[in-house]
Amino acid sequence: MIRTMIRNILLSLLRRVERDPLATAVRRGGGAIIWNREINIPSYLVAFVSMAIFFAVLMFEIGISWMNAVGLFLFLSMVFIFFLMYLKNEKPHLIADSEAVMLLGVICTSAVLVMQLSKDWMSPLATPLAAFTLLTGLLLSRSLALMVAIVLSMILAVLNGFRFEYFFIQLFASSAGIFSLAAVRTRSDLSRIGVRVVLINVVATVIVHFFVGWSLLTFEVNLMWGVLSGVLSVVLVLGVLPYLETFFSRTTNIKLIELADFNQPILKRLMLEAPGTYHHSLLMASLAEPAAEAIGANALFARVGAYYHDIGKLTHPEYFIENQQVLENPHDPLKPTMSSLVVTSHVKDGVALAQAHKLDRVIIDLIEQHHGTSLIHYFYHRALEHNTAIKQESFRYPGPKPRTKVGAIIMLADAVEAASRSVEDPSAARMKDTVEQVINNKFTDGQFSECPITMRDLSTIADSMINTLSGIYHARIDYQKTTPSA
Ligand SMILES: [Fe+2]
Ligand SMILES: [Fe+2]
Repeated sequence: MIRTMIRNILLSLLRRVERDPLATAVRRGGGAIIWNREINIPSYLVAFVSMAIFFAVLMFEIGISWMNAVGLFLFLSMVFIFFLMYLKNEKPHLIADSEAVMLLGVICTSAVLVMQLSKDWMSPLATPLAAFTLLTGLLLSRSLALMVAIVLSMILAVLNGFRFEYFFIQLFASSAGIFSLAAVRTRSDLSRIGVRVVLINVVATVIVHFFVGWSLLTFEVNLMWGVLSGVLSVVLVLGVLPYLETFFSRTTNIKLIELADFNQPILKRLMLEAPGTYHHSLLMASLAEPAAEAIGANALFARVGAYYHDIGKLTHPEYFIENQQVLENPHDPLKPTMSSLVVTSHVKDGVALAQAHKLDRVIIDLIEQHHGTSLIHYFYHRALEHNTAIKQESFRYPGPKPRTKVGAIIMLADAVEAASRSVEDPSAARMKDTVEQVINNKFTDGQFSECPITMRDLSTIADSMINTLSGIYHARIDYQKTTPSA
């Protein structure tokens, strides 16, 4: 309730700035590096607020004089311009995502405030800087986390009299955490990362000791601060990650692994109440996951998306062919238009069910987009038998079309899985024809017109799906041949 209220206030503020004519004029300026069309107003707002906080904290710390103020302003301007240039060129999807930019601003600003607190109460070496870079890596992007590590370590050094040892130790420790993030699958994996951060902190402190020649006591105390920094980093990440995930609608790999657990209430229901759909979703996941991997998309996200894409069928499972085990088809007494309505409604029902179970926005998007505006051929052709003037639009899903590469993969895996079931005498050549036909049909129907997928991606996805299907059906054929018939 409070979370929704705060979010609504923030979003309405951002929308107000979006409408602000001055802000729009700045955005339309076009020529400057930061304020061009590519960077939207929330980015500008967050960058401005973050820079103001950084400036105030650093100014307070290094002493208020006009020389310091000019130096600091130039330093921060340079850092922010480089940062925004990097985002614009390397992460355009992040700069277009107002919540992501807001999250980045919150992480960096909190880091500077924590630096200030650590300096006053402990030591700059005890600053849990790795926590902020790990949060960036988990919630936004690992390469962006490296940039954040460089910038924050630099600011820490500036804040403490341009001391290079602080920059060196904190950058090494944070980088060790970021490089280990790829393997994170569960929240307990974060503790292992904490151990690595502590170890690298210790090694970096020893290296600095050899160069600087601290007294033994200073060296021991600095080692202790390094260990504390690693421990604090993990505690901070474990403590705030779930809140940031929820508040900023970010879905981490950790969250995806939790969603992939078959003990999730909604997946359990699917297994018990719509076993055909459940089985279809599992087969589809085995097609979608390697296809996503092959084009460099998030394979885990594709697998989880496949598990949840048809949960809307739980409302009326008997109306879907994969769950029809009885001889009587509930569609028989219905008019084709009514059947089409029942079938298309599983998308809307899926979205409602996902919202009721508080599933992540990215999963809801996949559910909403998995049929795009595709035509339900079977009921359309049945309707044509009675009325040749019937409009195709009445037999199309409402959309939207897939907007991401994983969305396109989910659509294709869904259609390929359904089509492969109806192939008689499945040979490798027939499977190849089926996959290519499904992809061609979706492409010529314009289902990928809102999605950044390329022809090369589609070809790679086709190869991957043909491979997976050949594996599944080859194994089945071999098994049937070698098993004596009952
Ligand atoms: Fe579906
Ligand atoms: Fe499906």
